[in-house]
Amino acid sequence: MKTITFNHRESSIIGMGTWRYGEGDLLKTQREIEILKQGLNHGINVIDTAEMYGNGKAEKVVGQAIKNFDRDKFQIISKFYPYHATLELIKESLEKSLKRLNTDYLDVYLLHWRGQTPLAETVEGLEAVKKAGLIKSWGVSNFSTDDMKELASVPNGENCQVNEDLYNLTSRGVEYSLLPYQKERNIDFIGYSPFGSDNNAFLNLKGEVGEVAASKGVSIFQLLLAWCIRSGNVLSIPKASSIEHFAANLEAADITFTNDEIEALDKIYPAPTHETPLDSI
Ligand SMILES: NC(=O)c1ccc[n+]([C@@H]2O[C@H](COP(=O)([O-])OP(=O)(O)OC[C@H]3O[C@@H](n4cnc5c(N)ncnc54)[C@H](OP(=O)(O)O)[C@@H]3O)[C@@H](O)[C@H]2O)c1
Repeated sequence: MKTITFNHRESSIIGMGTWRYGEGDLLKTQREIEILKQGLNHGINVIDTAEMYGNGKAEKVVGQAIKNFDRDKFQIISKFYPYHATLELIKESLEKSLKRLNTDYLDVYLLHWRGQTPLAETVEGLEAVKKAGLIKSWGVSNFSTDDMKELASVPNGENCQVNEDLYNLTSRGVEYSLLPYQKERNIDFIGYSPFGSDNNAFLNLKGEVGEVAASKGVSIFQLLLAWCIRSGNVLSIPKASSIEHFAANLEAADITFTNDEIEALDKIYPAPTHETPLDSI
């Protein structure tokens, strides 16, 4: 498995997304727990979740899955709602998440998207729970380059460790200024929804991608995931709720591209040449 430095640690270059986990019947939930366990056993050591996912149900699934694993061998990212981004509510939300997750700390805690609370207050709240040992690091999600600049200008804003945004072959806006901005400042980038989310609802897939995948002998989805992590600077967090999908994604983490293949894909989906509003889900 290819690795990446994430949150100051060597980590697998793919993590496991959990949106919509815990929302099905018992059998489906058991399968999700099994996928997370298999992932940890196969060296995937990052799990992405949020208080929003199933109103805490996804965090509970993660809590079940990690029970018998060494806590310091993997990292958990969770996120709080923008309307919980105040000094008081951050701690309250975090404590609830920790309880559901069966753990006493998070590796990374993210503001899920920007809301009404001033960034300075949110950062103060995050620094306080970090000082209390409840989180190792904090970050944000769905932030643009301008948002990141504004964040850097508030007290302790430069302590932001992570920004998590939508990133896949059909949605490349972050490449223009955000990825270079974060790389220069050592702010880790997580790309979410490599397959355009559930049932690929946000994927604008063109037929030619299938031709590139077929000539490589991989599935379109394996190609999409491998493409997201091609630079070695992006941690991608696919979600799978079938064992077959999970196994295919695990394999995809080791797929590499020739320059010709990258050029062919660039022709189908060109890299951005100017700043655009970022896509989000
Ligand atoms: N920060 C944010 O605002 C934000 C927003 C969105 C997502 N996220 C995070 O990113 C994670 C991933 O994004 P996502 O859940 O939106 O969707 P995604 O990972 O882009 O796509 C999930 C869809 O792809 C299918 N799939 C997975 N592996 C496949 C494979 N090998 N072949 C064919 N289909 C496959 C899944 O089917 P099955 O489920 O049936 O296996 C599901 O329908 C989330 O779970 C969440 O943790 C964060």
